[in-house]
Amino acid sequence: MDELFSADNLKWRDKAREIAEDVVRPLAAKYDRLQEYPWEIRDALKEAELFGVWIPKEYGGHGGGVMDLCLVVEELSKACGGVGVLFAVNALGSFPILVAGTEEQKKHYLPQIAHGEKLIAFGLSERPAGSDASGLVTNAHEDGDSWVINGQKKWTTNGGAADIYSVFAVTDPNSRSRRISALIVEKGDPGFSIGRKEDKMGIRCVPVVELHFDDCRIPKDRVLGGRPGLGFKHAMMTLDRARPGVAAQALGLAAGALELATVYATQRKQFGQAISGFQMIQQLLADMATNVEAGRQLTYAAARACDTGAEGITKLAAMSKLFCTDMAMKVTTDAVQVFGGYGYMKDYPIEKYMRDAKITQIYEGTNQVQRLVIARNLIKEAGRLDHLSAFIPLPDHENTIADQERAASAAGA
Ligand code: CAA
Repeated sequence: MDELFSADNLKWRDKAREIAEDVVRPLAAKYDRLQEYPWEIRDALKEAELFGVWIPKEYGGHGGGVMDLCLVVEELSKACGGVGVLFAVNALGSFPILVAGTEEQKKHYLPQIAHGEKLIAFGLSERPAGSDASGLVTNAHEDGDSWVINGQKKWTTNGGAADIYSVFAVTDPNSRSRRISALIVEKGDPGFSIGRKEDKMGIRCVPVVELHFDDCRIPKDRVLGGRPGLGFKHAMMTLDRARPGVAAQALGLAAGALELATVYATQRKQFGQAISGFQMIQQLLADMATNVEAGRQLTYAAARACDTGAEGITKLAAMSKLFCTDMAMKVTTDAVQVFGGYGYMKDYPIEKYMRDAKITQIYEGTNQVQRLVIARNLIKEAGRLDHLSAFIPLPDHENTIADQERAASAAGA
């Protein structure tokens, strides 16, 4: 596989692998227990210059795009799924700026993120607007040289730890297609505060919070792209680029759980032999490994499509997220099964993989939404397959292939 990657791809993947093993794995259980942001891990990622991998070189990054983002997230998630998202969520927060920011906005914000000096979060979801993202009600209006924001965001990952926030708000309630805009909010802006911090099943080292805007005043030039109205489109374009990162997080969790389960199976003895000698365990491990590899190929294909601007990235990104996160839930659950009774206990590292995997089926679009996105795009593309209708008999027409052959032979006779 390595021969398919550039020297740069491998360099960043290997750096991430080193940090994952030397820094993340020894601290994973501690921060899971404490449910606190692991600043010492952030410092190690910053020192290794990993926050720049997806950001173009002209804005202070390394220019590795979504592919390097995925390679790094996969490695980190093998050791801790929480650290995987702690890292990846900065890509989610910065993609709106990359996709839609003005040159000034890109030059101002992206280098700070690339150098790991500032963390960023993405504020889209609200209490009344989860899957129905365009139903959001947080609003912003112009007032002199400012935008004034009112409302609340829900489930903002990295909130509180982050210094910068990409926030989506209604700026034109009477418009159908230009209702929403993306705004950049900074820690310390008047009227902006962090609300309730959630107590979570998994990914416990990264905060998930509410954002509160009470007459929050920001300068006018913080509207993304310099003009309002395109926020929903930019949110969707962001998710297209970020969903392969969730796929990579799930892939890393599954691959990490498989490694632990395989090692455990070779060491754990029952009936006088290592359980890896039993065919029922071998079947579990073989299915887990095959699914991990299939997910890996789909994730890398989606990442490549994002980086090359290939057509159809929406569908491929959704497929990678859907497949890998469902796969991770199954693989991590089976890994607990391999560990048996020990696997259910917090003294062993494996149950955390299962807890961390669950959220990947939910955030950045539930897997029900991914199926909707895939099906909608598939149906849209069906127009290109019109030539096939001639070969498909409609129930109320006598045009089966046999009918056509009979008609042709009658005409020839
Ligand atoms: N790229 C560009 N434009 C797009 C697009 C895409 N991928 N998808 C849709 N659009 C455009 C459409 O063309 C349409 O434009 P016009 O109005 O000009 O025609 C507009 O956006 C509306 O599109 P839809 O009619 O398809 O919108 P919808 O209301 O039916 O919603 C949806 C579609 C797919 C369900 C969408 O709402 C969605 O993805 N929901 C899930 C939200 C989500 O993923 N939230 C995650 C939040 S982040 C998170 O979890 C973070 C975390 O902290 C880790």
